[in-house]
Amino acid sequence: MEPLLWCIKYRPKNWDEFVGQESTISQLKSLVESNTLQNMIFYGPTGTGKSAAADVFSKSILGDSFDANFKSLNIRDIWFMSMTDAKRTVQDLAKLDRDERSELDEYMSVVYREATAALKSKGRTSPPNRSQLLQEAIRLFASTVTVTDEKIKILVLDEADALSYSMQQALRRTMELYSNACRFILITPSLSGWSPAVISRCTVLKFPLLQTDEIIAHLSDIAKKENVSLNNEASMAIARESEGDLRRAINLLQIAATSGSTITEDIVYIHSETTLNRTAREIVSLSIDGSYSDARKMIRGLVAIDGYDPQEVLLAIKRDLVKRPFTPFTLDKVLSRVAEIDYRIIQGKNSFVHLAALLASLRNYTTELT
Ligand SMILES: Nc1ncnc2c1ncn2[C@@H]1O[C@H](COP(=O)(O)OP(=O)(O)OP(=O)(O)O)[C@@H](O)[C@H]1O
Ligand SMILES: [Mg+2]
Repeated sequence: MEPLLWCIKYRPKNWDEFVGQESTISQLKSLVESNTLQNMIFYGPTGTGKSAAADVFSKSILGDSFDANFKSLNIRDIWFMSMTDAKRTVQDLAKLDRDERSELDEYMSVVYREATAALKSKGRTSPPNRSQLLQEAIRLFASTVTVTDEKIKILVLDEADALSYSMQQALRRTMELYSNACRFILITPSLSGWSPAVISRCTVLKFPLLQTDEIIAHLSDIAKKENVSLNNEASMAIARESEGDLRRAINLLQIAATSGSTITEDIVYIHSETTLNRTAREIVSLSIDGSYSDARKMIRGLVAIDGYDPQEVLLAIKRDLVKRPFTPFTLDKVLSRVAEIDYRIIQGKNSFVHLAALLASLRNYTTELT
């Protein structure tokens, strides 16, 4: 059997198991106590408990009807699903083994059929496109009402920042149309890019980065349960490396524990450097040294071969840039350039072109000013 990831094993199952986030959790608890179900936005950086809180909140408020009345859809998973997969019929899926088809595959198969029927009823014979499919995926769960249900349903839209502005408008209409039957919890890293019309219809709850002492206390709890010894320096090192992301902290603890049952600061540092960070450092060094074409090849490898998200790569490059001994003036210029590229990646079609442009400009920025 696959060893269970500790961040899944220790995923909070009730409010008491949450670390930090006191004011948000206490707001959610009072909503449960008063049985108040509103549309909500949970926002904050990765690994801070947004998805876990959406689960615990929905379970607490829906009680026995949770299985029937709760659904969580990951917007990015749907958006990037291959059309060939989405098109599969229920019969096609039935031919596959249980572990070859996911709940999402089954749901999207129904969604595809419904979206095609809706187009047909408008006299259109073209197959549904990506955004029509996504809209139908949201609408389908929101609109179905089971006769025996007295309770309202909850639809969690995870990674909802992947919704375009026009899709947000469609979502706003769906929220209003099915407000008798369904409430939405939108999960997103930040509020920027969100339409004010959507924000104003939701209760907004913030999940800030976790504090160092909260991370350390949680790590020492897990270490005790897993029989590993973790000294102060080692847990400080994990807290520092994870930068407020508790999922990363727990993962780092688990990886470090593979070296033996005593974890030291050195062991943490050996394991904390990811391939992405290491490669990003090499890419930045090559670019600054003028070996642009090597840097470009490496970045293509990261995106096209290793499958890293271009924005993740940009973030790793930024993390490396801020550690370099630039003057404040140079750092200002370099970071403004990173912000510009970040914006272009979101707006543009070919993100590789924009990452390559960043690399090409790094040498100029740094030699001109050092
Ligand atoms: N506040 C927290 N209290 C306890 N555990 C937490 C907390 N935040 C994160 N974790 C741990 O990290 C894991 C990931 O948490 P979760 O999926 O809720 O993060 P998230 O905020 O939704 O992140 P992402 O934005 O990457 O989806 C959980 O399974 C749990 O082990
Ligand atoms: Mg999440």
